[in-house]
Amino acid sequence: MEQVDLLILGAGAAGLFCAGSALRQGRRVMVIDHARDPGEKIRISGGGRCNFTNLASAPDRFLSRNPRFAASALARFTASDFVSLVDRAGIAWHEKTQGQLFCDGKATQITRMLLDRMRGADLRMQIRPQSVTHDGNGFVVNTEQGAIHAAQLVVATGGKSIPKIGATGIAYDIATRFGLRLVDTRAGLVPLTFAEQELALCRPLAGVSVKARISHRGGQFRDALLFTHRGLSGPVILQISSFWQPGDSLQIDLAPGHDVAADLKAARSGAGRASVSSILGRSLPTRLAAAICEEMGLAQARLADQPNTRLDAIGARVNRWQVRPVGTEGYRTAEVTLGGVDTRDLDARSMQARKVPGLFFIGECVDVTGWLGGYNFQWAWASADAAGRA
Ligand code: FDA
Repeated sequence: MEQVDLLILGAGAAGLFCAGSALRQGRRVMVIDHARDPGEKIRISGGGRCNFTNLASAPDRFLSRNPRFAASALARFTASDFVSLVDRAGIAWHEKTQGQLFCDGKATQITRMLLDRMRGADLRMQIRPQSVTHDGNGFVVNTEQGAIHAAQLVVATGGKSIPKIGATGIAYDIATRFGLRLVDTRAGLVPLTFAEQELALCRPLAGVSVKARISHRGGQFRDALLFTHRGLSGPVILQISSFWQPGDSLQIDLAPGHDVAADLKAARSGAGRASVSSILGRSLPTRLAAAICEEMGLAQARLADQPNTRLDAIGARVNRWQVRPVGTEGYRTAEVTLGGVDTRDLDARSMQARKVPGLFFIGECVDVTGWLGGYNFQWAWASADAAGRA
């Protein structure tokens, strides 16, 4: 049986980073993964440019049953610490918006940097763990290529999102096997889907984008909303999807900062023959304004002919649009998995299981999920560094 000090399951963001941090403690480290290539999610992240961190990575940007759990790791390995590594590797980057840092070039530069940082560790791809047990001295991981014995085991196999590129729920199985509790998992940062009534509006508008504001269950976001053939997407919808629960309705402001009823009333006196649709088009994309007027039976209507009650109804339709999603697109397209290994069973400084010395869980498999915008990678780096040092 092969022997190592530390075996890391998963060569994604957290696993690769943890290997680099553990090497600096002088450990013999092996990383195994069932995929062909390491860092597959890094490769496809941020539209291929990897939004590798967010300068505002504070605990309030994360969802977890214990909102304070992430604080220790995030404070000890910060966004600036990661930026220093990126700078040292000579990777050019830019801030896109709201503290979100992206590579100027390809996301694979980040994977390259992580692989350079863990040089000296034994990385083996296309190995699938079949069982994980404890023999009294350490962990035994059985694979088709033989068994590996490790004094310490880090589980960094991520969540369930995007099974097509290798996501499995193995972290949850291992946690359960060793007596750790789980918080129910569901897809997060994911487009929302709708029933036929809303789709009648969404479908013809597929591709139209509008700045929108949504507040729901403590989440409040103002960003782009995108109409799609299946419903709604875009950053503001992905963000709110992590707060949305099945059965909830959402109230969406399609023209934040504009009191549309008041604007229409103010425009009415000088409007002459202008249509409602053309004046509404001053605060909304033209196609959306036309679709809303059509839906309300006002396709050709003149603004000058509309009573206050109708302008109030248009204002409500735009500033307080009520919709009830029927679901989400699920793990097939979700950027993250909410829930996971219950933080009550992990030590916040080291990510070690409280009742199983030597067993660690890091990254997305833990019940810590960031907002959209680089927070999830920052959690991967910070939790990985905490475990790697421990
Ligand atoms: P990750 O999923 O990265 O790695 C897990 C590894 O474990 C994989 O290599 C997998 O093959 C392996 N594995 C799984 N099951 C296994 C098994 N049974 N046996 C062996 N190996 C197994 N975040 C962000 O901050 N900025 C961004 O720009 C983006 N963009 C983005 C785009 C898209 C399309 C997605 C899907 C996700 C993002 N994210 C993101 C989220 C981010 O990718 C995610 O939070 C991190 O990759 C999580 O890192 P982990 O290492 O925990 O899991």
